[in-house]
Amino acid sequence: MTARTPLKPLVAVVVLGWAAVVLPSAPVQAQTNSGQPWMNQSLSAGRRADLLIRAMTLKDKVGLVHGVDRKEHPFKGYVGYVPANPRLNIPALKLADGRAGVGNKATGVTLLPAPIAAASSWDPSLLETFGQVIGKEQWGKGTNVELGPTIDVVRVPQWGRTFETYGEDPYLNSRMAAAEIKGIQSQGPIANANMYLTMNQESDRFKIDSVVDERTLQEIYLPPFEAAVSSGVGTFMCAYIKTNGVYSCESPHVLGNLLKKQLGFGGWVMSDWGGTHSTVASAEAGLDQEMPDDRYYGKALETAVTYGQVSMATLDEHMRRILVTMFRHGLFDRPQPGDWDSNVRSPEHDAFSRGVAEQGTVLLKNEGNILPLSGVSSIAVIGADGGTRPQVEGGGSSHVVAPYVISPLDGIRKRAGEGGRVAYSDGSDLASAAGLAKSAAVAIVFVSTAEGEGHDRPNLELPDKQDDLISTVAAANPKTIVVLNTGGPVLMPWIDRVLGVIEAWYPGQEDGNAIAAILFGDVNPAGKLPLTFPRTADKIPTSMQQQWPGANGKSIYSEKLNVGYRWYDATATEPLFPFGFGLSYTTFRLGHLEITPTILSKGAGVIDVTVDVTNTGHRRGAEVVEAYINQPSGNGEPPRQLCAFAKVFLKPGETKQARLTIEPRALSYYDMSTHSWISAPGTYQVLVGTSSRNLPLRRDITITDASN
Ligand code: BGC
Repeated sequence: MTARTPLKPLVAVVVLGWAAVVLPSAPVQAQTNSGQPWMNQSLSAGRRADLLIRAMTLKDKVGLVHGVDRKEHPFKGYVGYVPANPRLNIPALKLADGRAGVGNKATGVTLLPAPIAAASSWDPSLLETFGQVIGKEQWGKGTNVELGPTIDVVRVPQWGRTFETYGEDPYLNSRMAAAEIKGIQSQGPIANANMYLTMNQESDRFKIDSVVDERTLQEIYLPPFEAAVSSGVGTFMCAYIKTNGVYSCESPHVLGNLLKKQLGFGGWVMSDWGGTHSTVASAEAGLDQEMPDDRYYGKALETAVTYGQVSMATLDEHMRRILVTMFRHGLFDRPQPGDWDSNVRSPEHDAFSRGVAEQGTVLLKNEGNILPLSGVSSIAVIGADGGTRPQVEGGGSSHVVAPYVISPLDGIRKRAGEGGRVAYSDGSDLASAAGLAKSAAVAIVFVSTAEGEGHDRPNLELPDKQDDLISTVAAANPKTIVVLNTGGPVLMPWIDRVLGVIEAWYPGQEDGNAIAAILFGDVNPAGKLPLTFPRTADKIPTSMQQQWPGANGKSIYSEKLNVGYRWYDATATEPLFPFGFGLSYTTFRLGHLEITPTILSKGAGVIDVTVDVTNTGHRRGAEVVEAYINQPSGNGEPPRQLCAFAKVFLKPGETKQARLTIEPRALSYYDMSTHSWISAPGTYQVLVGTSSRNLPLRRDITITDASN
């Protein structure tokens, strides 16, 4: 375990129920004015940027639009670095990865659960704190650009980076992205919306072409990025992939039309690492900065500007975006004392990591109320994931050096206490695993998938014969519970032979403590799936090779709007576990659905929804009320789309009113003839319940005349 050093009190921490809530500190001190006009803090960011640009030489400018090689400019662990320009008072840009904590091999940091676990909380306030914790640790490390969050909608369940995302729904994704970005930026660093756009697979990620129609792009893949812009995100990362034949990082449509014009993004776009493919085309299209080096934006750009292939005005536009963002986020004005070697951990962050793992855990099956465990005389913990090799995180640029890892075995032993009989088998020998299972009152099998950047999963099965392990244990002990540590959905051919199933995702450093709290009922599970679990491999939205991993260099988005649960609903396919699903140790009743207004005409505003939620069981618990919209069939929309949700925490017997807000966008579609969102007249149904397949409360809304 890394030694803890006291942290500067940049934030105050209040422990509120399950999570540590990090509150921003007072504004930091301003630096002394150097006499350079752009250092005058009373001027606007735009004015200061203009003044500075006027003082810059071509070399100064080019120096800001690319990263530098670590060998030539030694810098600490950051994954991207733009040196300071002391003459002009421009601070260095220090970029580091951070999806589940500070990455790039930093030590003295907290390993949080994967973002897919955080998203399973369906709690934007938790995501905001998630962002605050990452932002605070990054700032403490000296990072001023935090490379996260990853906000792509999951299209392909085998996608190797599913764990880094918030799942398969644009609306859920948007809410989570906005909250996390707000949290990150409240602590100092500028956040980075990545990976823009249609980055939906790892297979052939450096050259695959995502072929997607404009309506699908607008309705499914763009909205989370739109939410990121609205939340004030300072930077974007364009993806490796091509969208409709053009690399994202040199696409005038993707960067210029969609991001900068339509979404009105005022910050800067950097390329993914090695994702720049040209000088002139990229500069003209709207790529503001090449990362991590200067292959296309160093000498080559200087020459292109000198000979007029790229105009000075174009370069100044890139400059302005970078500088305005830096001024806006205070990088010129506040000290950045953080250092890569600092220990930025704290007990509050450890506790928060555990809280996220607990809130993100989804109880999928609980036959005969096998859980929570009580009065159990002995427990067999089985599987490498349960003891010798816990899968606590995903791989690639998300990797975080964990300060410690509590394995499930450690956590369960600690919770079971002195008298608790807990035995372990790593499952490598089926006969001994079966023997151990037979001798125990309950068997808990821990299984996992190792997912990460650079490769998709070949299929949706658990690897390494783990299905056999589960079946063998279940045959030996009818009281078998399965805990999944996966980054995305898996098939469960053994589902009918086990009594309990828990999806605990990649739970971070507090793995064992969190799962023990769930298993023993210290924490009542309240997580909901942010993506669908299919029943069989052929019954998924992207089962054809042309769709994934693609053919002839193209991935065809022929499922169009029917991404995730939308496809299951449109094709009446029964999933194994639907989007939005998750059980609790208590029970809830929903009633008194009220909607106002129910008749809308042109320019109508938001719709208010209230629902009474009652905890009808005997434990404290939380329920997520989910609202979906069913549009008139003529609009050509999928049968149901999530449009609002609210999480309610209730004591036994308590009733609270959940308040949800449906935005006008939910009652509209992207019209290809006018290239805009329109709300067609007709009857729209609002469906309310506790998963995408359990929507007992319904009300109609009528739109009387068209609007756009
Ligand atoms: C990943 C990015 C990451 C970058 C820097 C790339 O391979 O796609 O998400 O931020 O590396 O580590």
